Amino acid sequence: MSIKSPGLFIAFEGGDGAGKSTQAARLSDALESRGLSVLRTREPGGTPIGEKLRSLVLDHGHGIIDPRTEALMFAAARAAHASQVIRPALSDGTVVITDRYIDSSVAYQGAGRGLGAEGVLSLNEWATEGLHPDLTVLLDVEPSDGRQRRTVGDATEDRLESEPDDFHSAIRHAFLDLAAAAPSSYLVLPASADIETLAGRILERVESLLLSHGAAASPQGETVSGERS
Ligand code: TYD
Repeated sequence: MSIKSPGLFIAFEGGDGAGKSTQAARLSDALESRGLSVLRTREPGGTPIGEKLRSLVLDHGHGIIDPRTEALMFAAARAAHASQVIRPALSDGTVVITDRYIDSSVAYQGAGRGLGAEGVLSLNEWATEGLHPDLTVLLDVEPSDGRQRRTVGDATEDRLESEPDDFHSAIRHAFLDLAAAAPSSYLVLPASADIETLAGRILERVESLLLSHGAAASPQGETVSGERS
């Protein structure tokens, strides 16, 4: 069943080194300059417990973390994020922009770690009580490009980033499959395009979404958002 929520929920997804953070910041600035209330957040993280889980799951040195444990840690951080941060902000009419969400678990743990998309998706449906983005911006990056971009000037890679290219290739295809299965909820762009071009395309799509939700004209207006029936 859908509930009414005045905000708009946007997720940025893509492989490591895709440039999500840069584009999330650009979008956030552009919307704020139009007078909209915007919350920029990230996963894993976004809450105190989520930030702790983030370092547990991403830092080296915690011994072996098996795939199911890893998937549960990301889902636990996401449950807190959805209930304590994202839902309240959406209810207040805020545009929520998150750097990663459920698709990252489906891609990294489902495809990368081999747990399968179905189980990871249903774990996350449960964790978030079915909260899905209105739009997912997928920045599609070639694994070798991503590695080159993220290690420029910074040689440290976290536990997931340091996996080999075939792991990142499986992730890339999983993201593309998710987008192909629900094209109206996705904007897929090549991460290799220049920053200005990407920012323009993303803003254009979000503005049209805001108009169709009535949020640009009336930020406090009630629109259907965030829940799949
Ligand atoms: P991120 O913060 O996007 O790293 P960066 O900013 O350095 O690109 O994500 C951290 C890592 O966690 C990234 O390698 C992807 C991984 N991850 C998962 O494996 N599953 C998930 O559900 C999430 C949210 C992230």
